[in-house]
Order: sequence, then C-alpha cells, then structure tokens
Amino acid sequence: MRLALLGCGTVGAEVVRLLHEQSADLAARIGAPLEIAGIAVRRIGRDRGGLPVDPALFTTDALGLIKRDDVDVVVEVIGGIEPARSWLVEALRAGKSVVTANKALLAEDGGALHDAAAEGGGDLYYEAAVAGAIPLLRPLRESLHGDRITRVTGIVNGTTNFILSAMHASGAGFAEALEEATELGYAEADPTADVEGFDAAAKAAILASLAFHSRVGAADVHREGITEVTAADVASAKAMGHTIKLLCIAARGADGQGREAVSVRVHPAMIPLTHPLASVGDAFNAVFVEADAAGQLMFYGRGAGGAPTASAVLGDVVAVARNRLAGVRAASESAYADLPVRPMGEALTRYHISLDVADRPGVLEAVAGVFARHHVSIATVRQGPAGGGNDGGGNGGGGDAILVIVTHVAPDAALAATVRELRGLDIVRSVASVLRVEGGL
Ligand code: NDP
Ligand code: HSE
Repeated sequence: MRLALLGCGTVGAEVVRLLHEQSADLAARIGAPLEIAGIAVRRIGRDRGGLPVDPALFTTDALGLIKRDDVDVVVEVIGGIEPARSWLVEALRAGKSVVTANKALLAEDGGALHDAAAEGGGDLYYEAAVAGAIPLLRPLRESLHGDRITRVTGIVNGTTNFILSAMHASGAGFAEALEEATELGYAEADPTADVEGFDAAAKAAILASLAFHSRVGAADVHREGITEVTAADVASAKAMGHTIKLLCIAARGADGQGREAVSVRVHPAMIPLTHPLASVGDAFNAVFVEADAAGQLMFYGRGAGGAPTASAVLGDVVAVARNRLAGVRAASESAYADLPVRPMGEALTRYHISLDVADRPGVLEAVAGVFARHHVSIATVRQGPAGGGNDGGGNGGGGDAILVIVTHVAPDAALAATVRELRGLDIVRSVASVLRVEGGL
C-alpha cells in the first residue's frame, strides 16, 4: 500500500515519524506494508530535523505525485483551500483514497470532495480535522448511525480554551492571556483564525453535517470570537458559579414554520462550573453529544499538536488501506436529511447582561419593561455599586449602579432586540457586557 504525503509540517512530520516507528505494526494491522511513495512540500531544502525518511522522496510536484499509478492513498496535511481542493478532487476522481486534516477545506467545500469520492470510488476520511486526536467523527459517522443525535456542544479550539482558562484562573485580561498563549506556543503568530472563531466554526460545520445528515458549511455557522471577553465578564461569571468557554453548538429544532431544522453557532458563553465542559482546561478539547437513545456522551482529549493529530491521521490511513485491500469502500456521505439551517435569531439561548444604570426610583421597572415588551423572561437580577464604589448602594440618591440580569431561554432575536432597546434608554448609561448562558441554570 503506497501513500503520497502532501505536506510535511507540524502534522506531516509526525505522520512520517509514526509511519517509521510503527511500520511493522501498521503492516500487520493493514495486512500489507505501508510505504511512502513521495512527500510534496513547498520548500525542498527546508531543514526537517533529521526525519527518518529518504530525502529523495521530497518533491514540489504535488500533482505529479498524486497522479502516479503506484499511489493508492493521498494524505493531505497542507491546509488552506487551494491548491488542496483541486489536488484532492483530482486524487478522488482518479479513485485514490484520501485522508485529510483540512477542516477549512471541508467546511468551505466538503461537498466537492464527497462528490469526487463518490465518482472515483475511493474513501474520504478526515478524523483529524475536528478535535485532533479525539476519536469523534468515526463515532458520529458510524457508531451513532442507529441513533438520532439532537445536540452537539463542544470546546473544539485549544488556543481559545487555553486563553479563557488562563483568564478564569488568574483574572487576567484577554490581551495578557493571549500573550501567555503565544509565549507557550499555543497561539500562532497570527491568532485570528482561533480567537475570532473561524477555526471553531469550520469544525462546527463538519460536526453538524455528520450529526444531522445534512450539508452544513462554514457560511451557515453563526460565529463570534473571544476578543471582546473581558476580565470583568469572567469575574461576573465566577460570581454566578460559571466560567466562560468558546462553545460550538449544533442543535436540531423546529424552525419558524415548524419544519425540522438545525442551528449551528460558535460564540463565547457562560456555563455552570458543574457542567462537564467547565472542567476542560488548558488547550484540551471536549465534545458533548446528546442522542435520543444513547443519552449523553462526552469525548475528551488533545485537539491539536503534531503527534496527537498524526495519531488520528494514521488511524484513517489504516482504515482506508484495509478497505482498499479488501476491495470495499466505507459508507459514502450521509446527507439524505438535507435539513435547512435556521438563522441565529431563532436559536434558543439565555443572556447575561450587565448594565450601568442610574440608581433612582423606577429604573428597575423601566428596564424590566423592556424585557417584557420583547417577551423575554428575567430569571435573576442582581444590583451592585457601579465601578465598585459606594454611590449605588440603593439610597436613591442619583448615583449609578450595575444591574446584572440573567434571562430565561428566549429566541436570540428577542434577546438582541431587548439589548438594542436598553442601549437607547436614558437611564442606561451603558450596556457593559452581553454574554450568552448555556448548559442549565
Ligand atoms: P504546517 O504549516 O506546519 O505545514 C504545512 C505543510 O504543507 C508544510 O510542510 C509545507 O511545506 C506544505 N505546503 C504548504 N503549501 C504547500 C504547497 N502549495 N505545495 C506543497 N506543500 C505545501 O501545517 P500543520 O501541519 O500545522 O497543519 C496541516 C493541516 O492539519 C492543516 O489543514 C491544519 O488545519 C490541520 N490541523 C493541524 C493541527 C495542528 O495542531 N497543527 C491540528 C488539527 C488539524 P514546507 O514544509 O516546505 O513549508
Ligand atoms: N488552532 C487549533 C486550536 C488547532 O487551537 O485548537 C488545530 O485545529
């Protein structure tokens, strides 16, 4: 069984290392030796730190390598949309099996890859694309196929989980925690894809597609990052017995017309410290799956890094190689349900709102009236002095106070409209923060 490796960076180098170290075991598991036919890279002369591989295998001609007749499996760990998409479509149409870790491509145009795999008759596996080493996609696409998944809630980005965990532990602000994440090598030099939620949104699209048997793309995912989360938000969450996590949430539900639909979103949210995802610290990932018959399941582990990601890649390589030897292919894409994606405004959630208000009679009534007009039910209200001072202690003396309001579940559009109207009130000096609350009150 011969494979073409596209990319030899953080993940690719570990794939090479593991292929070398485990070659005898992998051959025994597959039923045939596994050999590298070639490795496509961008810079042929790059120092690869003494990788255990023949330097003559490196090439810059990826397409030529893919097209070779002696290549059975193409492993893509380059990343990005192009040229990866064209190369993988070419490989799949030619009947090769493909293993990829490329979540951005799968979320952008996974349909093109699945269609090409169906045309060529090879396998398309991508376990490493979501949550690194954690076996998660195989359970969704195989083990849980007898069940009906209702919701997937996950922490699928290690960088942001490291930052939010550091903010919770030390009280640091976002910038300080990001600096620490960069120094320790968790955050990349350009952290935009992680901190703005693009990486998590791509993973959310892949999870939703598999869980709900429907094609969901990155553009269908409502996305918010963590750059606006402040130390005060984290402190407020703590005071409520909560912590803040960047969550990906994909759920089934009826849309405005009563048809079954899905909602897929990525945003920071407060979750109770008692929730299983609250204890997921550092750069770890965890995904909580709810299904009708299975109930609640949780998957936990390392979501990134060369070796953990290579573990998932090699698991896929063994699976597709076995299939080729047996002359079979895995079940093809399951997108039969074709459920529509609901707009974010229809998502059911709760809000935690901090308001800086004038502290005088009638203010609470006016604020509560806004919630009532939008049919949003208030769960709790807490008042404290503005800025930690003593001018808002409830003496009606004309100072300011901080009002912290947590709502019951309501459509996101109603909650957003409530916040918009609150911002327009004279008695509201500022809306200090708005965060969603998930996971039971
Ligand atoms: P790196 O940037 O470390 O490596 C990319 C590799 O691709 C390099 O070897 C580079 O060549 C090669 N490459 C880039 N462009 C081209 C091109 N046009 N032609 C040929 N080769 C090219 O990326 P990672 O290993 O970190 O990530 C790879 C994939 O795995 C991505 O899709 C990523 O999202 C995914 N992934 C990564 C994880 C991680 O922890 N790093 C976790 C989960 C998924 P050269 O070496 O010459 O520069
Ligand atoms: N940048 C990602 C993270 C790793 O921080 O989780 C690859 O998915």
